[in-house]
Amino acid sequence: MKILLIGSGGRENALAWKLAKSSKVEELFIAPGNPGTAEFAKNIDFKSDDQKSLLEFALKEKIDITVVGPEAPLAAGIVDLFKENGIKIFGPEKLAAQLEGSKVFAKNLMEKYDIPTAEYQSFSDPQKAAAYIREKGAPIVVKAEGLAAGKGVIVAQKVEEAVNAVEKIMIDEKFGEAGEQIVVEEYLEGEEATILSFCDGETIIPMIPSQDHKPAYDGGKGPNTGGMGAYAPAPVVTPELMEYFKENIMQKTLDALKSEDIDFKGIIYFGLMIKNGEAKVLEYNVRFGDPEAQVVLPLLKTDLVEIIEAVLEENLSEKNIEWLDKKALCVVMASGGYPIKYEVSKKITGVEDLKQNDELIVFQAGTKLINEELYTAGGRVLAVTALADEFKEVIEKAYTGVEKIHFEDYHIRSDIGHKALTKA
Ligand code: AMP
Ligand code: GLY
Repeated sequence: MKILLIGSGGRENALAWKLAKSSKVEELFIAPGNPGTAEFAKNIDFKSDDQKSLLEFALKEKIDITVVGPEAPLAAGIVDLFKENGIKIFGPEKLAAQLEGSKVFAKNLMEKYDIPTAEYQSFSDPQKAAAYIREKGAPIVVKAEGLAAGKGVIVAQKVEEAVNAVEKIMIDEKFGEAGEQIVVEEYLEGEEATILSFCDGETIIPMIPSQDHKPAYDGGKGPNTGGMGAYAPAPVVTPELMEYFKENIMQKTLDALKSEDIDFKGIIYFGLMIKNGEAKVLEYNVRFGDPEAQVVLPLLKTDLVEIIEAVLEENLSEKNIEWLDKKALCVVMASGGYPIKYEVSKKITGVEDLKQNDELIVFQAGTKLINEELYTAGGRVLAVTALADEFKEVIEKAYTGVEKIHFEDYHIRSDIGHKALTKA
């Protein structure tokens, strides 16, 4: 089988690693990929938003299945285009991708079908939004309606901060069209977790729960990033909470989509806030999380290609999905100054010498090769994933891996997994 994977981040490196393990895969291509994916796949030089070139390539190479990593091509309708041309592709169509691409759509769906989430109002008039914020008081959360590369959410501790966020989004148009509308929502307290799921439109199956670390600095301080590290399974998701989630959130979401005549095939990412044994939805995404994929995929025992085929053939209900009975944890090494201002083109050493195996893996993200040598090329540069039997051990193992890798002014959080230790 020939597979084409689309994307270039750490998540896609984890996907390439997992797809390459499938006995069904004869050839794996990734567009555009990164130096890390080149170990498992043939990198091809098309950007993930170049739908026309990707389609031509898939047709010419007779690709059997295309797998889409990031959200932007999904929201732009790449799945619709490939399907119109008779090519199998894994991911939701444009209409279904609104679950992530439009916060107003997602919030309205949750309200209509009584899916637990923060109270909210949506606005297209900045004055009305500001008046609502003043009426509700802080803390309060302001979200740009559309895709904003993970930067469109402002958790404001003060009313003025929230009003400024409205101005930046709606008047200064910081996120362009994505900010023509905003959602203002109630601030939720609790602990966050991610539950990814496979969905074929009729059946939805949760993966093991994971936990991201979004703020830039230790102790959850500083600005939000794309994610500084993750671990799985997340003990905050107790067996009871998982049952609550399946009944009140996961199945209800699928039923809601079906009631709206939306056929969802792909990944639904549930970003949850957990408190007192109950969960509320913070956000939906329509793809694997990054860096959640870097810990969830290494624990997946079942062949990912078989699961993808089951989704496309709508027989996921017959599929038994198995997980390793281990803990996985990853630490992201980022460029100093990320997520605000950082430099790139720093030489990276130590990756080659690290003895990688299925329980110690370096997933690359913002890297590039210059004269066969590895350099930084982005905010999140790479992630070191470790697997072990216990959280204490897995933390040590991942950080020992990190110590062997170096580039100038790198930034890590030193407390990845600490919340798991307090519960395990
Ligand atoms: P989102 O992209 O919607 O997940 O938001 C990014 C991050 O902002 C989340 O992971 C939370 O840490 C935080 N956040 C979003 N919505 C809320 C909320 N209603 N209350 C508290 N924190 C939130
Ligand atoms: N790690 C958060 C996300 O992928 O959206």
